[in-house]
Amino acid sequence: MGDDSRFAIPVLDENNDVFWKGKKSREMYNEIDLDIIDINSEPPTEEPFRQYYFMAKCREWVLEFERKNGRRPLAFTQTFGCQMNARDSEKLLGILEQIGFQEAEDEKAELVIYNTCTVRENANLRVYGRLGYLNTLKKKNPNMLIVLCGCMMQEPDVVDKIKKSYRFVDIIFGTHNIFQLAELTFKRLEEKRMTVEVWEGTERIVEELPTERKFSFKSGVNIMFGCNNFCSYCIVPYVRGRERSRRPEDILKEIEKLVKDGVVEIMLLGQNVNSYGKSLEPPVSFASLLKQVAHVEGLERIRFMTSHPKDLSEDLIEVMKSSEKICRHLHLPLQSGSTRILKAMNRKYTKEQYLELVYKIRRAIPDISLTTDIIVGFPGETEEDFQETLQVVREVQFDSAFTFIYSKRTGTAAASMENQVPEKVVKDRFDRLLFEVQQISAQVCGRDVNTCQKVLVESLDDHGEGMVTGRLSNNILVHFPGEPALIGKIVNVYLEESKGFYYIGRQV
Ligand code: 5AD
Ligand code: SF4
Repeated sequence: MGDDSRFAIPVLDENNDVFWKGKKSREMYNEIDLDIIDINSEPPTEEPFRQYYFMAKCREWVLEFERKNGRRPLAFTQTFGCQMNARDSEKLLGILEQIGFQEAEDEKAELVIYNTCTVRENANLRVYGRLGYLNTLKKKNPNMLIVLCGCMMQEPDVVDKIKKSYRFVDIIFGTHNIFQLAELTFKRLEEKRMTVEVWEGTERIVEELPTERKFSFKSGVNIMFGCNNFCSYCIVPYVRGRERSRRPEDILKEIEKLVKDGVVEIMLLGQNVNSYGKSLEPPVSFASLLKQVAHVEGLERIRFMTSHPKDLSEDLIEVMKSSEKICRHLHLPLQSGSTRILKAMNRKYTKEQYLELVYKIRRAIPDISLTTDIIVGFPGETEEDFQETLQVVREVQFDSAFTFIYSKRTGTAAASMENQVPEKVVKDRFDRLLFEVQQISAQVCGRDVNTCQKVLVESLDDHGEGMVTGRLSNNILVHFPGEPALIGKIVNVYLEESKGFYYIGRQV
């Protein structure tokens, strides 16, 4: 047992701050003091304290490794898929950092995590493709732990296949178990066999875990998890579970902390942010959350993703219009321009309603940039349906569109639909759509040329010595001559030349 001043189970005080008797530790996300945890006692049952305990346990293993090898063990995380996964990976890295791992550049590491995506078949194939490579690395480094997590692991068939054919994988966990990385790693180290933990769903949201941000000046912030929409092609509601919203006070607390830490831009993340807060007690609308977030002092830019057109409210348009901080960009997935296909997709809006919404947004915020997602080759899609999609694309003039070939996902309603479209037809439509989208994009993206705009500088420009790259409020990239010291700062840039998808400018 540890000495008397150490208490194994921390408690929450009235402000929800974590403290251990004998030593108080406020606002801990990234400054968890693992030294004050008694690792010889039983693990706490409450979260996040249970995870802090297992972080301390794993750290013993890390220290032992360091003693033997003269260096800290390395950890590598590869993220597949969307912004949600990217944010989850930051949480995973945050936990690993607390434990004492050093971040690696590639898979030659003691712990390798693949945070997987399963939204389209291709994503799954890429993961299987890379597993063979991991196996060869593991043969050279017996200390190596291979971890698979994320959306693909929520599919029972996938887990069965890995258990059977990829025995060298060490840990598997699902989207609801991200917060348990330390606990599962410890279990694997103790039991020395494959550890699998995949919850089908959950009500819980574990707050106050450490995160390791990829960028010092911008960050994603989850506002909700899961999706209730069940678009008929989409596997997300099955792998991410039902909608759960975080409490506004938790979100604001996280953002305030990020701002204190140097963040100037945040991206509010949810599968369908427009239905944020419906299940909270009392309910809170997304528009009202945005208003509160916009009040955070020191925060300069707010983005959000993704908006479902079916419940984008007038209030939201009003808030966007009235706040300078909210970026002039809206990602509004269309999926199809045919009302008949939209109905089969269970999207709950018609082509006309989508267009009406676009006009309303453009009337209120004329300089907004609109981007979208479009699927071609949904079961039953005819040439006429496809022509309607092209027509909407021409009418809306999207700044850019992510175009996808329909991918059949087992378990979704569309997977059992008849009249799947032949591959050759789909490919041809896809090429035609891409051509159209790119033509339009090249025309509309240049509309701000010869104006002065605010740019958040994000990185050095790979293509030009002495150049930096930043983003306009409407998300378009700008390259201009500048010092590395500008990274993370918002500066005024005159847009001298439009190159279609980006600008060349000069700082003024
Ligand atoms: N096939 C093709 N594209 C899909 N998407 C989601 N599910 C599928 C699927 N089964 C696309 C949608 C969504 C984006 C994130 O991925 O366009 O908006
Ligand atoms: Fe999938 Fe539709 Fe939910 Fe988006 S809104 S995650 S497309 S089910």
